[in-house]
Amino acid sequence: MDQQLISLVNKLQDVFASIGVSNNIDLPQITVIGAQSSGKSSVLENIVGRDFLPRGTGIVTRRPLVLQLINRPATSKANGEVKKEGEWEPNTPQLNENNQDEWGEFLHLPGQKFHDFAKIRDEIVRDTEKMTGKNAGISPNPINLRIFSPNVLTLTLVDLPGLTKVPVGDQPRDIEKQIRDMLMRYISKPNAIVLAVTAANTDLANSDGLKMAREVDPEGTRTIGVLTKVDLMDQGTDVVDILAGRIIPLRLGYVPVVNRGQRDIDQSKSIASALENEKKFFENHASYASKAQYCGTPWLARKLNIILMHHIRNTLPDIKARIGQQLAKYNAELASLGGPMGETNPGSVVLSTITEFCAEFRSAIDGNTNDLSLNE
Ligand code: GDP
Ligand code: NA
Ligand code: MG
Repeated sequence: MDQQLISLVNKLQDVFASIGVSNNIDLPQITVIGAQSSGKSSVLENIVGRDFLPRGTGIVTRRPLVLQLINRPATSKANGEVKKEGEWEPNTPQLNENNQDEWGEFLHLPGQKFHDFAKIRDEIVRDTEKMTGKNAGISPNPINLRIFSPNVLTLTLVDLPGLTKVPVGDQPRDIEKQIRDMLMRYISKPNAIVLAVTAANTDLANSDGLKMAREVDPEGTRTIGVLTKVDLMDQGTDVVDILAGRIIPLRLGYVPVVNRGQRDIDQSKSIASALENEKKFFENHASYASKAQYCGTPWLARKLNIILMHHIRNTLPDIKARIGQQLAKYNAELASLGGPMGETNPGSVVLSTITEFCAEFRSAIDGNTNDLSLNE
């Protein structure tokens, strides 16, 4: 049920985006924020299990990327066993590069399936440059990308440009403010879940991502801390005090991760071996060994999915009220036009999607839903 619920929410989001109607229904999303080069794109790639995001030093992510991961069981033999619903597993090296069970689709290129993830990266770069030019410009206009795969949990994540202070290239003098405003538009929504990424080898108290998260979420009820670069910490130091909530407590806690370093990227180290390396790091580290199952990317992905489902469930009453209002508005418009609209009219798509959503929604509310526990 919960997987269906999330995919319905994703569908609604696409429909509204495609007809240029924004914020009619404030849907839950996981947003990724943090300082430039704190490792946001690396975290996202590890969750997806594929290399596909433009990365590098400096400002690489220059438009918001709305990334929908959609779990879809494998159909071809090449992909091996079909995963159980809700089971997260990173991609394995045996997967060939043009796996038929795994592809991306952009909202601005409907019907075009990208099985080659390098081409997804090229398209993100191409469409970014189309909107912002080649010289470090930024735009609040989002790129919408869906990834279908048997190896992901159904999640929606938003990658955002990193916080930066000094303008470069074609960036405006007030770049810091422009990026801040852009991030604020996403994270200030009361139903946005904020993934605040901070490099563990920097001072947590100076974390720009955490500071912004605290501005919009002072109670810390929708902020998850992610500590990257744990492998780059000085000998004899660790993040145990942070994890225990003794530095800046977060109600939803922190997850420490180890992504690929620049040298790994230069040597084209695969995500699969990076995840293996991450697992070994936590299992063999004296500070983390006893709690290794609560460290690393697989735990982060699992935690994110559980939190998202809780969040959707908690916001259902509000979403229901908003959908009711929209439905009444569209019905009134329909009546004033003197009858049903043609199939090509975007309004009819919205109407049928909302109707479908309400039906699903009712069964979700009225039916007996299993209670999800966050206590693992
Ligand atoms: P973003 O700007 O926040 O999206 O950061 P990126 O994901 O592009 O990473 C910036 C740089 O930090 C790259 O050179 C990465 O290889 C490196 N990096 C990110 N996370 C880690 C980590 O956990 N460990 C190490 N050693 N390097 C990392
Ligand atoms: Na970067
Ligand atoms: Mg990035």
